[in-house]
Amino acid sequence: MLTPAKGRRVTITGLGCHVPEQVMTNDDLAKIVDTSDEWISTRTGIRERRVAADDEAMSDLALPAARRALEMAGVDASTLDAVIVATITPDMTFPATAAIVADQLGARDAAAYDLSAGCTGFMYAVTQAYSMVAGGLADRVLVVGGDILTRVLDWSDRSTVVLFGDGAGAVVLEATDAGGFLGFELGADGAGGMELMLPGSGSRLFPNGEKFLTMNGREVFKFATRVMVSSAEAVLGVCGKTVDDIDLYVPHQANVRIIDHAAKKLGFPEEKVIVNVNRYGNTSSGSIPLALADAADSSRLQPGSLVLMTGMGAGLTWGSALIEWTHSTTGAVA
Ligand code: ACO
Repeated sequence: MLTPAKGRRVTITGLGCHVPEQVMTNDDLAKIVDTSDEWISTRTGIRERRVAADDEAMSDLALPAARRALEMAGVDASTLDAVIVATITPDMTFPATAAIVADQLGARDAAAYDLSAGCTGFMYAVTQAYSMVAGGLADRVLVVGGDILTRVLDWSDRSTVVLFGDGAGAVVLEATDAGGFLGFELGADGAGGMELMLPGSGSRLFPNGEKFLTMNGREVFKFATRVMVSSAEAVLGVCGKTVDDIDLYVPHQANVRIIDHAAKKLGFPEEKVIVNVNRYGNTSSGSIPLALADAADSSRLQPGSLVLMTGMGAGLTWGSALIEWTHSTTGAVA
């Protein structure tokens, strides 16, 4: 799907994020599996990540993020028309984590559902929320993206355990008179889906009782470097913009090598690229909002900034959106 913005103008009026307290460094991981800070930081750029406590579930990360986003937007939860939670690690398959979050927020009039698009979930959910508001079906939609992937990792598998961390981010979408979203590009290639999957998590029975995330790292790396560039180019093209017009490039934070490759191919100078994978690892659907929060706090994301966001992940899926930022969003991490 490739489209410029249509209908009412829509923008992000609030941003909130939340990460678990526990920090796990590469040295901590080296005590659990056969790895080293040197290997992890040179191959991925990751130095530490947050890990949820045993009694923390996705809704526990989503709630503080959502409350902060609503507070920043000045929106009362009771006026929300929809709550979408993009996650592949919901509290449970049903009820939807979005319904749990909506109830705890007091969003009594909101439709509430979860959305599964791997690490691209946030981009997919933002696009859905956009279309509801642009088309007039809704006036205020809350989108939460996040995951507790550490819960579904095989903690004896060094090839995956070093890559992921836990975290969540939330945004409020509302209509606006000026600025806001300019266009979107979303895609999926189910043929490559088995390269990154969570067996035993649904109705398909797996013979060996497998239940941990599995990934063909090299194949996902090749896919990621390809779509991060093609998706960004497509959305820029459909919006009639070039890389020079963009103030900030906010890529999914999976691996600094993937980000560097995409930034170089697209032609972004280092100062326009947001990187925080070193502090959080790959937080899946939480990664883009957490990167936006960092950008705002370092004064690189301001009203008027033209921002390109691109995600990719399980599915295999990818997605980009271009937005002219309209609101001040500093202090998003709750
Ligand atoms: N510590 C030390 N050595 C390791 C580790 C580790 N943690 N992991 C793998 N190795 C070893 C391997 O066993 C291999 O050894 P060998 O050569 O003796 O066989 C060697 O390091 C090289 O392994 P590669 O897989 O070739 O390493 P590569 O440079 O490709 O990096 C990585 C692996 C980081 C996983 C990379 O392929 C990658 O980033 N892939 C993309 C991951 C990604 O973006 N995932 C997105 C997920 S999005 C979502 O929806 C969840």
